[in-house]
Amino acid sequence: MANPFYLQVIPDDRPLCDRSIEIRELTSFAESGANVVLYSPRRYGKTSLVRRIQRDLAARGAVTVFVDFFGVSSVDEVAARLANGVFAFTHGREPLWKKALTTIRSFRPVLKPDPESGFSLSVETAAAERRGIRLLEETLESFGRFIEQIESPVHVALDEFQEIVSLDQALQIESAFRTRIQNHRASYFFIGSRRRILLGMFNDRQRPFFQSAIAYPLPRLPEDELAAFVRTQFTDAGRECSLDAAIELVAAGASHPYYTEKLAFLAYELAEKIDTETIAAAYDRLLGTERPVFEATVLGLPPGQRRLLQALAREPTEHLLASSYVAAHNLGSIGGVQHASRRLEELDLIERADPDGAWSVVDPLFAAWLNRQRERRVE
Ligand SMILES: Nc1ncnc2c1ncn2[C@@H]1O[C@H](COP(=O)(O)OP(=O)(O)OP(=O)(O)O)[C@@H](O)[C@H]1O
Ligand SMILES: [Mg+2]
Repeated sequence: MANPFYLQVIPDDRPLCDRSIEIRELTSFAESGANVVLYSPRRYGKTSLVRRIQRDLAARGAVTVFVDFFGVSSVDEVAARLANGVFAFTHGREPLWKKALTTIRSFRPVLKPDPESGFSLSVETAAAERRGIRLLEETLESFGRFIEQIESPVHVALDEFQEIVSLDQALQIESAFRTRIQNHRASYFFIGSRRRILLGMFNDRQRPFFQSAIAYPLPRLPEDELAAFVRTQFTDAGRECSLDAAIELVAAGASHPYYTEKLAFLAYELAEKIDTETIAAAYDRLLGTERPVFEATVLGLPPGQRRLLQALAREPTEHLLASSYVAAHNLGSIGGVQHASRRLEELDLIERADPDGAWSVVDPLFAAWLNRQRERRVE
């Protein structure tokens, strides 16, 4: 039997653990045409959740457009991905497809046979001379005309939306989006894991998106739900897993959606029976598979930030700037710590649970790995 655990976006036909409250609330926002900023640390299940919500909205007659801005490198590409999202949904759905073709004129869809999915869809600009912000504005305006011409509710998911901030004309892109979409009869979800950057777009008075969407943080999964889910997945796939073993596995994965699934995925490969030894062996493998990413992250940081990260992995603190903490972890000057913490927070490597809460490393496995490294150095 195939391994029942997933390391990518969860396919539409596979079960999700829980998220029933989130699905209900977010669906209700979508149906009332509200805009939402959906954010969490990496790999909490944002994309899987939104895909699921869109699948159900589409089954009830909505037009759902999904656009992923990950790695986007120019304004033209932002526009192209948006157009692609519209064509990808409408393809094969007459009369929507024809409406999309007649209204969205800045791009042409290009369909090519694909051995895996049947066909692949890309877009090319219709008028080669049109580029940049103007192309994006035109695409957004034409999408607006498309919406006006149809009766179905419309939901648009813009995944990894904060990526547009890294582009040269970031503010103009934000402005182009904001001014156009505020007239669209549609619900927009802005999704991302670079929380400081994403929320900065919506919380800063000077920015076009200021206070234009409902902020919706996605939490980790509840431990008991996750344990029950993991256990069912194991037993349905013919593995023996007691509730205690499932609870132990979830604790080892820190209730983190992705790490827990990956731990379960590795445990499934290792043994017929899931027990303490299997979990420990799977955990070592998990650390091994994540090591290259952790190493690269640490190597990319200047020494001051590296030291602060190591300190917080070892000892989370409410008083980052207390002289005793700075001295105990050899962090140098208070000014240096302030600068390093700002930078690490921007990178989403450290966070403060709430405004007065403790500072800690965002990724629990990364923290565990940093501590193992330190223990090795000390030995
Ligand atoms: N509800 C869930 N039930 C079970 N597993 C989940 C759930 N949500 C997320 N996961 C696990 O987390 C992994 C990541 O999910 P997904 O890609 O949707 O997260 P994401 O927040 O969009 O990640 P990223 O920040 O990398 O974009 C999935 O492959 C799965 O292993
Ligand atoms: Mg995602």
